[in-house]
Amino acid sequence: MKISVMGYGTVGSGVVEVIMMNNEQIVKNNCLDSLEISHILDLRDFPNLPFSDKFTKEFNDILNDDETKIVVETMGGLHPAYEFVKSCLQAGKSVCTSNKELVAAYGDELLKLAKEKDVNFLFEASVGGGIPIIRPIVKCLAGNKFNKVAGILNGTTNFILSKMIRDNMSLEEALKIAQENGYAEKDPTNDIEGHDACRKICILASLCFGDHIYPDEIKTEGITKISLSDVEYAKNCNRVIKLIGSAEKDENGKICAQVSPALISDASPLSAVNDVFNAIMVDGNAVDEVYFIGKGAGKLATASAVVGDVIDCAVNKGTIKNYFWNEHKSDVLVSSDDMPTALYIRGFASDKENAEKKIESVLGKVTYLKRENAPKDEIAFLTSCDIRKIQEEKIKSIDSLDIQSVIRLADY
Ligand code: HSE
Repeated sequence: MKISVMGYGTVGSGVVEVIMMNNEQIVKNNCLDSLEISHILDLRDFPNLPFSDKFTKEFNDILNDDETKIVVETMGGLHPAYEFVKSCLQAGKSVCTSNKELVAAYGDELLKLAKEKDVNFLFEASVGGGIPIIRPIVKCLAGNKFNKVAGILNGTTNFILSKMIRDNMSLEEALKIAQENGYAEKDPTNDIEGHDACRKICILASLCFGDHIYPDEIKTEGITKISLSDVEYAKNCNRVIKLIGSAEKDENGKICAQVSPALISDASPLSAVNDVFNAIMVDGNAVDEVYFIGKGAGKLATASAVVGDVIDCAVNKGTIKNYFWNEHKSDVLVSSDDMPTALYIRGFASDKENAEKKIESVLGKVTYLKRENAPKDEIAFLTSCDIRKIQEEKIKSIDSLDIQSVIRLADY
């Protein structure tokens, strides 16, 4: 079996490394005749590798290579990845991708095309890096109706928050280390502003609930506004701050999906997931809650997921039909602003006593939080559960409170 790889960056080079490193065992354990790399597409030169002769700058060398039956797409970005992947599928080649942006934007269309051509479009590495999550949802949990899927979906931000929580490190310093380790996206804005996690929750929600959900339909907030003071207040109420992507059905069957920082209980399995690790909780009506934890980013971990897909394509001829979701529908979502939630609020008030009176008259009972060496005019508190947009309007009406942070509380 011959495969080609498009994009020799962190993940693409990892895929080549894993296939070469474990070739004998992969071939033997999966009853393949062989598994060889035919072409590697990249615009850069790699003259000093033992397999430099495999590099090409021409996509057509892969498209027109009849021996290449499986193409790995690890280029990232939407264009030309979309055009290349579509052409490969149209030519009857299976595609395995780590590109969450591509799957979140065009998953329904590419899955449909793969089905028409009786090949596969697989994307295990697009969510959770090395964690098996797509295949377990599609196959092992196929007997369930899903209620909820939620988790820590971005390794870079989890790494940063872990450093802030445990080492009192600044966001900038921690981001630099994450980039040096190859975890962060080319543009770290996608990580720290939550866009990467948003694409991943869209893929999971589309898979669990059956209709394509686009990233721009989902309220997305990153970690850039989180301060070390928030981290400390969270600790003092037995919680930790994590960037959570979640999608769940409300009582009317609509889906509420969002990405935002959340204060989760320090007793939650998600609270103990640190550094570059990701964790995903899937709640099915038969299985109840199951957790998947592992390395959510990094060269070999992500390559492990891609190579698993490659092997699946090599072993199973023809489309694996349960990898599928429907086209986008306009009426399946409900905004997280319209859902009930409890909130953590931090702000400043020069007249604290008056501000607290106003807070209680507007919001009812709240729980005040303390931290050591807090500035005299700082107030932090937890609200009770109510519709988010109503709570936010009430909080904004408190003129004497200069709001610094609003973070939801979540129970997973
Ligand atoms: N930048 C991503 C992360 C890489 O940090 O999780 C894996 O998708």
